[in-house]
Amino acid sequence: PSLEKDLLPLYFGWFLAKRDEDSLRKTSHEFLEQLGNLKAFKKRLQAYGYEDKHKLDLLKHFAKTPNILHCTSKFCDYGKAAGSEEYSRQEVVKKSYSKGYTLHITSLFATPRTVGARVELTEEQLLLWPLDAEREVMPKDTFPRGSRAHLTLGTAAEVQDVQTGIDLLEFIKIQQAGRDGESLGELTGSVAGKVSYFDNGMWMVNLARKIEVKSIFSGYYG
Ligand code: A2P
Repeated sequence: PSLEKDLLPLYFGWFLAKRDEDSLRKTSHEFLEQLGNLKAFKKRLQAYGYEDKHKLDLLKHFAKTPNILHCTSKFCDYGKAAGSEEYSRQEVVKKSYSKGYTLHITSLFATPRTVGARVELTEEQLLLWPLDAEREVMPKDTFPRGSRAHLTLGTAAEVQDVQTGIDLLEFIKIQQAGRDGESLGELTGSVAGKVSYFDNGMWMVNLARKIEVKSIFSGYYG
């Protein structure tokens, strides 16, 4: 046996190709601009810590954006996170490393904490999804595998990126309880779709046309 141990990354995931990353950042701006201009949104600013009379600039509210847009599959913390070695040793992980994948974005969402894109994983992509990814952050609930798959597009100051997936599961939990949110308008253009409001400043647009982005499955070691 070799004395050298494989280096484990901070996380494994799908990293967007540059062109699609640039275009998704623009889409995210478009989403926040249109959402922020909705009458229904302006009437419900309290959850974001603003009084009605103030104008909340969502682009400024989400002060932090990730350096590289990506969909995390497994957070390893360089090997410190539970299950990271087992994950990286899987044949499917090794064989998929540096392969290209198309990610399908079905909705965009914003909460007072995070803005993100929900990713619908294909059967093939689900093979790279850890069995306990949902349970890890919401141990008391059950979710279909892959429910947490997302791209963090931005976070409010002081909020960690990991919050985006937790916020997404919060939306799905409400939907699982049979509530589909209050239908409060529509967005147009590249972010066309119905807007639903889920209380506590939680907004989601179900995209009329899914957004497809090219990505590469890899590890981030930075
Ligand atoms: P996300 O996947 O929601 O964007 P950080 O910079 O905080 O170390 O995180 C690096 C990446 O790993 C981010 O993409 C982040 O969130 C994700 N991440 C951080 N902690 C966890 C965790 N406990 N479980 C899953 N993903 C995590």
